[in-house]
Amino acid sequence: MTITKTKQPAFHITGETGWINDPNGLIYYKGKYHVFFQYHPYDTVWGPMHWGHVVSEDLTNWQYLPIALKPGDIGDEDGCFSGSAIEFNGKLYLMYTGFAENQGGDSIRQLQCLAESEDGINFKKHGVVIGEDKLPAGYAPCDFRDPKVWRHDDQFWCVVAARKYDGKGRVLLYKSLDLFDWTFVNDVFQKDSLGVMIECPDYNQELSYMFTCEQFQPSENDVHLNVHTCRYHIGKLDYSTGVFNEQTRGIVDYGFDIYAPQTFSGTNVVIGWLNMWDRNVPSAKYGFAGMLTVPRKVSVKDGKLFQEPIVNVKEGLIQNVEDRLNDNVTKGVITIKARGLHDLSLKMRSNGENYTELTLKDGQWVFNRAKSGEEIKGVEKDVDSLAGIRRMPCSMNEEIILTIVLDEFSVEVFEDGNALSSTIYPPVDANELILSVKADNCTYQKSKIV
Ligand code: FRU
Repeated sequence: MTITKTKQPAFHITGETGWINDPNGLIYYKGKYHVFFQYHPYDTVWGPMHWGHVVSEDLTNWQYLPIALKPGDIGDEDGCFSGSAIEFNGKLYLMYTGFAENQGGDSIRQLQCLAESEDGINFKKHGVVIGEDKLPAGYAPCDFRDPKVWRHDDQFWCVVAARKYDGKGRVLLYKSLDLFDWTFVNDVFQKDSLGVMIECPDYNQELSYMFTCEQFQPSENDVHLNVHTCRYHIGKLDYSTGVFNEQTRGIVDYGFDIYAPQTFSGTNVVIGWLNMWDRNVPSAKYGFAGMLTVPRKVSVKDGKLFQEPIVNVKEGLIQNVEDRLNDNVTKGVITIKARGLHDLSLKMRSNGENYTELTLKDGQWVFNRAKSGEEIKGVEKDVDSLAGIRRMPCSMNEEIILTIVLDEFSVEVFEDGNALSSTIYPPVDANELILSVKADNCTYQKSKIV
């Protein structure tokens, strides 16, 4: 099938054409940031997974490179599923899940494979390095995927999502001296996930957090409403026992469209998939479906994950806002700073009839995309989801700093380290931004992408 791409976001990563999902193999290697992603280039729906590849020097402007991994070899007959990257002896290694469908169901095989590159562009596959024989007894080889590798104390460590035959999601830890020969260490959480299966575990050893993505996780009040959700766990991985001792946990992003966040190897920068499974993707008619979030600088403060967007912008003028401001914005970064904030309502991508709204209500940011444009239908049936709503706590900071990253088809909202990311598909004439605010003092700044 030939696809032509007729539209695309200005600075969010998409496939050159076709479908993408999880970011994979995030790494800074030989002077460039490399981002790989789950990719089906021949259609705008999920299919046999390849690894697409882009690079950037500033984390904002991305350039396509040839597809890095194609399925079809022993171990990855039917797909090269998610995984991660690491540099070793000057070479770039990718660890990914080889997917073999076989007869489906329990005969599916998901095994961990290795590929290597000297130039960061062309990859040589080494086949399966964590096979079925390395799965402890009782775990299902049909649900064993998404290795995240890192180095600690002259050894390589890797977490892989797994499932017990009669249980839910688990995260297994392995270690190796050479990336080829792996030994099972332990089941890091020692208990089932809340969702039916864990996907894409991600460990950041410097900040000592683990991300997990949970499929079909029940909602928790008005949080974790998405059918599949991403959680952070902050704690300590005890390398001697292989157990992760969790201290705090939370949701990675309060928005509609976020999954599979991954941390760049050895850095504190994260990118996620800016979509959600089990929803229609209206951009398919423009030749692409799926995009990635902007990179986020992450830190941990008071046991909480703190995220700030990284976008290369030319900072715009700072304007004082009395109580209302009108502007035209389709792409760029908006910063609103307010002291003594009582009320705030922001309409984005508006043409009067269609708009996306963010309002402050009872200490929460309420994001509403019900009128944003083309309908995005999901399987969630709770009141907020049906009303196009997602909520994020508002901080009690003396000065509230709201940062909004707007691009064609997405809005990412950041405040006090929290993030709320969602896709929107507004009509082309919906460009107005209307800010109404009641505060002792408020400024507005629009910055354009460099
Ligand atoms: C998560 C996921 C991974 C898997 C990949 C397949 O979104 O389901 O678990 O490796 O997507 O594309």
